[in-house]
Amino acid sequence: MIDLRTSYLGLALANPLVASSSPLTGNVDMAKRLEDEGAAAIVMPSLFEESLQADQEQIHRLLDFQDIGTGEADSFLPEPVQYQSHLDEYLEKVVQLKQSLSIPVIGSLNGISATGWLDYARDIEQAGCDALELNVYYVAADLRQSGAEVENRYIEVLEKVRAHTALPIGVKISTHFSSVGHVISRLQQNGADGVSLFNRFYQPDIDLEGLQVKPVVYLSSSSESLERIRWLALLYGQVGVDLAATGGFHRAEDVIKAILAGADAVCLCSVLLKQGVGALGTILRDMQDWMEEREYVSIEQMKGSVCQHHAINPVAYEHANYLAVLDSWLIAEVD
Ligand SMILES: Cc1cc2nc3c(=O)[nH]c(=O)nc-3n(C[C@H](O)[C@H](O)[C@H](O)COP(=O)(O)O)c2cc1C
Repeated sequence: MIDLRTSYLGLALANPLVASSSPLTGNVDMAKRLEDEGAAAIVMPSLFEESLQADQEQIHRLLDFQDIGTGEADSFLPEPVQYQSHLDEYLEKVVQLKQSLSIPVIGSLNGISATGWLDYARDIEQAGCDALELNVYYVAADLRQSGAEVENRYIEVLEKVRAHTALPIGVKISTHFSSVGHVISRLQQNGADGVSLFNRFYQPDIDLEGLQVKPVVYLSSSSESLERIRWLALLYGQVGVDLAATGGFHRAEDVIKAILAGADAVCLCSVLLKQGVGALGTILRDMQDWMEEREYVSIEQMKGSVCQHHAINPVAYEHANYLAVLDSWLIAEVD
């Protein structure tokens, strides 16, 4: 019997497959189906800074209206207590998910400023989440801002969350840093328990008919996993935080590579949206078959065994084989 257990953010997981933050994990029936397929944990859809700010503004508007007093019209205004805020809805969802599932439920906060909205980390903890993912979805578009300032923003946001919760925190980061490993070390020093590599930024497209920018969500493909696998391999054994992979994990092969490179957990999203939640069970079974064929007895035995430190050809994870890779391109492959 293969031992698939792993641990991520201090949580004991039955296997490394985590259902990543998406509309699927915010739906109790879907989340239950994911658990039945073998998901070892779920990350809830994010609670967004913008939504919390909108709640605050709405509550102030209602209170202001009531202060002014508009006679009979007052009775048509909702009482502040009746206003269902995004936060209330989120906390209710945490309770429902915790009641329905026996796997860990990881909450998610998504925003970019180290301000009051982060105080709600405490409410998420009190509602029963087992850990928290922090997604600083920041596009550094201000040309006056230095790389160090961008990094400091991540640290300040993390520090504020850390001050409000004792939950384990995983930070979902992007690749857009000059030195990814250095940023991760700083996150660790400031209270992160894990990092999730990497955020996928949704790229706006241009509508050629209307000549307008249009937001689109393209789902990922397997090839995107390679960038994550490289960084897992470079970081494994060098940083003191747990490592989760996210972005482009569609097949058992992708997941196996992530674990060989050093992942503690692998998060799935696009594949579940494209193929349905059953894809998780297929990946889990295919992974077990692969391990059985090669006589692996546990995930721990596999983990990090092809990281940079243990790899037969460690420079291949860095720049050194660039020339060889380019040379290996065959003109015959062009149509
Ligand atoms: C429709 C959709 C909704 C998502 N919602 C969130 C979210 O609320 N918070 C978050 O941190 N990531 C969110 N993500 C990102 C995913 O959790 C995941 O990190 C990303 O899609 C990369 O994984 P994949 O290649 O398996 O899709 C969302 C992705 C999609 C496609």
